[in-house]
Amino acid sequence: MSVTIEVASSATDELLAGMNKLLPQLSTTAPPLELADLERIIGSPSITLFVATENSELVGSLTLAIFPIPTGLRAWIEDVVVDGSSRGAGVGEALIGAAVNEARKCNARSIDLTSRPDRESANGLYQKMGFVLRETNVYRYPIEG
Ligand SMILES: CC(C)(COP(=O)(O)OP(=O)(O)OC[C@H]1O[C@@H](n2cnc3c(N)ncnc32)[C@H](O)[C@@H]1OP(=O)(O)O)[C@@H](O)C(=O)NCCC(=O)NCCS
Repeated sequence: MSVTIEVASSATDELLAGMNKLLPQLSTTAPPLELADLERIIGSPSITLFVATENSELVGSLTLAIFPIPTGLRAWIEDVVVDGSSRGAGVGEALIGAAVNEARKCNARSIDLTSRPDRESANGLYQKMGFVLRETNVYRYPIEG
């Protein structure tokens, strides 16, 4: 399988359709993206949207946020997803590798992410890629819903 990893540079209808195929595989509650949402993501200076394609089909994506805070330039990985039909072939690993390279290039001090313990594939992937489990409490303040 020949998969290409690149940074999404424009919000096209094709990319939107691909993202909306991936999104339900990541979240059962996230509403479908609209073109304006995709434009906002791609246009944000702190966000890099990595896309994995095979034969021009979107098979995976990852969102990297890089932001300056008082303790330094930090990075966060969110919304890692590979299409069900393309899993187990190294696409997730390639997406994480691209994000790590980008964060390193930007001189970010660290990269954080979270993953529910029941996401076995994701936890296996992150550990294989060198992410180390931290002892911390993760909190969320629900604003909508
Ligand atoms: C997690 C996910 C992105 C992995 O993508 P993938 O392309 O299948 O992963 P890869 O093929 O690159 O696998 C890389 C490593 O991840 C781990 N891994 C992948 N699938 C696994 C599985 N089913 N069980 C255990 N470990 C697994 C392994 O360490 C694997 O390395 P190996 O092949 O040498 O054993 C994919 O399963 C997915 O989209 N899951 C649903 C959405 C999700 O949970 N996203 C993460 C949110 S935190």
